[in-house]
Order: sequence, then C-alpha cells, then structure tokens
Amino acid sequence: HGRGLGRSHGKAILFGEHAVVHGAPAIVVPVPALTLTAHVTVVDGPSRIESSLYAGPTADAPDRLGPTVAALQAALDFFDLADVSVELRISSDLPASRGLGSSAATGAAVVAAIADLAGTDLTPAERHDLIQTSERVAHGAPSGIDAHGVVSASPLWFHGGAVEALPTGADLTFVLADTGVAGSTRTAVDAVRRVRDTERERFDVVLARLTSIARTARTSLAMGDRATVGALMDESHGHLAGLGVSGPELDTLAAAARAAGALGAKLTGGGLGGCLLALAPDLPTAEHIAAELRAAGATAVHTSTTEAFA
Ligand code: MEV
Repeated sequence: HGRGLGRSHGKAILFGEHAVVHGAPAIVVPVPALTLTAHVTVVDGPSRIESSLYAGPTADAPDRLGPTVAALQAALDFFDLADVSVELRISSDLPASRGLGSSAATGAAVVAAIADLAGTDLTPAERHDLIQTSERVAHGAPSGIDAHGVVSASPLWFHGGAVEALPTGADLTFVLADTGVAGSTRTAVDAVRRVRDTERERFDVVLARLTSIARTARTSLAMGDRATVGALMDESHGHLAGLGVSGPELDTLAAAARAAGALGAKLTGGGLGGCLLALAPDLPTAEHIAAELRAAGATAVHTSTTEAFA
C-alpha cells in the first residue's frame, strides 16, 4: 500500500539512570501524554525527512538526525527494502535532549512505521535490536532501557538487559518540569564513566546504594507505598548530583517541587539539564507543584498519571 505508520511515547526513568549503564537495575515509567508519530510513504527519487528539526534529503540530514537516519536504514535493510525510497514525516510533542526518550521514541516510531509499510510484525526482540541501532548512534553505549520504555504501556523493571512489567499498588501522578537546558546523554554518560575510572571506591559505594534503592523502590511500588518511593527519589537525586549529572536548574526545581508538597523529586534520564521528575500525593497537589515549578523557572511542565495495576 506504499504507506506506514508508527507511534511511540515518552518515558521517564524513575530509578537507576546512569547506574543501569554499569549493570545496576532500573525502573522506567511510560509518559503516554507525550507522543511521537512517524509516517512513511514510498516515493520516487532520494529518501527524505520532514520534521520540526529538518526537511530535506536523508543524505544531507544534520548530525542530530543521525539516529533517525540509522533507524530508517536499519529497518529498511531488515525488511529487504534497502532499494526503496521513502518520505519520513515525524511529528512529536516530545522535546529533544530533555531526558524523556525522544531519541529512542523516534527510533521506535520509525521502526514501527517501516514494519507497517512492509506489512510484517516484528518480535519484541527484533524491534528492540532495531531501535538500539539508532540509540547507539545517539549516545554510544545505551543500556536499552529507553528503547523499552518508549513502547511500554506499564512501568518496567530493567536489569541486565532483561525487562519485566512492574506492578504498582497505587496510581502514581508525576509532574515533569523542563529546565529548558538541553542535556547531552552522551556527555553525561562519559562524565559518570570518568568518576568510575578516577574514583573507583566512591563510585562503587554509590552504585551499590543506587542498586539497593531500585530494589527497595520495586517493593514499595508494588505495595503502593508512595511516601517511601518519594523519599528514595530524593535520595537518588543526591547521589546523581554526586556523580556530577545534576546542575543548578535541576537542583532549584527539585527544591521547589519538595517545598510545594511533592513526595519526592529527582532528575530523570541523562541529566545535565533536561527534566525534573516529581511525585505528587494527589491531583490537586500536582497542579500546585506544576504552578510552583513554572514560577521557579521551568520552561514547560507536564503531568502524567500511571494507573495502579497488579
Ligand atoms: C538515559 O535515559 C538513561 C541513561 O542511563 C543512559 C542509558 O541507560 O543508556 C543515562
């Protein structure tokens, strides 16, 4: 039929970002309110991209679209469509470089659009491998957690490359606040690796603590114990700051969220800018936290609820 459509959404890492790159477990929650759509249409002539970042031939796309082009190429190759030219149109609510998974979401939607064009379903493992092709171009050695989070309907526990749905005993209402500062995941991952290489003892202590935080959080989430989850978020933020991936804007927003009644607040994803993730006790308080975060300098604020499920 000459056309394909793929969709994905944002994600927020609740526990274990950075630590997960070094083998620790992590927890990711979907952010279904921020969606990304990829349309592909078979065309004559060279392949093209049309997005808010760039419109033109794939071959001349700027470096920041390298991961998108890689996903497109990998998916076309996978389906033996390497000779086919397409126009790829991407529309997205997801801000780039804000720790919300825009690179993995782009890869996921592009891969799904090409699978739709080919009229063939991918197994979860095939899909994951193809998304990871673009994630490697985006930031070197991705753990794979983002590629899972942007296609999952539920929170996930991720450890050692394996992923499982994580039951939650209570609804979780999050407030996501954008610092307005672009954070490079690659730079942040490199900075943490430098800490590991130069201060091994301190790094190992932090990694062990982040590991046990993720494990405790898993149990607390299952029991619906949001107060403990919030306290663990606050503690995580401190450890991530100690690894050098927070920043003044994130610290300011974290303090504002706590003062406004958040159960906990932390940076999410790569950090060095990007977004703050706060856990609200209820919807009215979430609205108050959102207003206070705007007043404290957030350039955009989103509220996202994950419903309890067994
Ligand atoms: C980025 O969302 C999460 C990091 O842990 C990198 C990764 O897991 O690949 C910072």
